[in-house]
Amino acid sequence: MQVDLDHLPRHIAIIMDGNGRWAKRRGLPRTAGHAAGAETFRTIATYCQKIGLEYLTVYAFSTENWKRPLEEVSAIIGLLKKYLLESIEKMEKDKIRLHFFGDLDALPPELRELTVRTDDISTRYEGMQVNVCFNYGGRDEIVRAARAFAEECAAGKRRPEELSEELFSGYLYSAGVPDPDLVIRPSGEIRISNFLLWQSAYAEYYYTDVLWPDFSKEELHRAIAAYQGRSRRFGGV
Ligand code: IPE
Ligand code: IPE
Ligand code: MG
Repeated sequence: MQVDLDHLPRHIAIIMDGNGRWAKRRGLPRTAGHAAGAETFRTIATYCQKIGLEYLTVYAFSTENWKRPLEEVSAIIGLLKKYLLESIEKMEKDKIRLHFFGDLDALPPELRELTVRTDDISTRYEGMQVNVCFNYGGRDEIVRAARAFAEECAAGKRRPEELSEELFSGYLYSAGVPDPDLVIRPSGEIRISNFLLWQSAYAEYYYTDVLWPDFSKEELHRAIAAYQGRSRRFGGV
């Protein structure tokens, strides 16, 4: 199937999975897999910007990933910092807008400041928006949104009867971002793992056995081509 780059989905989301197995196959520590995965992310994000994608959302660290050994968690947080520092340097040139979905309060203060800075710089640009899901969980996001709405009701600013799907969406991390059209999961796992539960109600899913560090432009083309061959009905006929 041939990919048509003139008719891209507006929003692609990727569960960047398989870093650990990629490293294991090479006899390397899992952290080496995360470093390789971070490189793949840079390559794929740059390519998505080049072909004119509007929104790219990537799952980098879930609310459940804290269960991993401290060394691994620290390495992932270190990679995020490295990426942010590099991005701040390059944003002027790349014009990629960077946003975060997730509870960033759990991050070290200096890292949180970097996310605020990249967010600020991003408001100046109009390029592709990349949403990095970090300490993100779909259920956690929904609970937070419900809590925020309930607090506004308790404060008399909102009434429960006002709540609609549209209004509720505005309380999520993804407020203002269109729902993903295509969700890609590499590494052979066929599950959601708490990713964009609300937003992907009608997303098309694409799975591949390729591990994230090996994910390429050609793989992305295959995923988009598969998406283009689907018939989206949204409950209609
Ligand atoms: C994805 O790769 C990265 C994170 C979840 C942080 P994994 O580390 O889950 O890789 P596998 O699934 O163990 O191969
Ligand atoms: C999902 O991958 C989270 C990220 C890729 C960041 P996991 O490796 O954590 O998911 P499970 O444990 O296989 O469901
Ligand atoms: Mg995994």
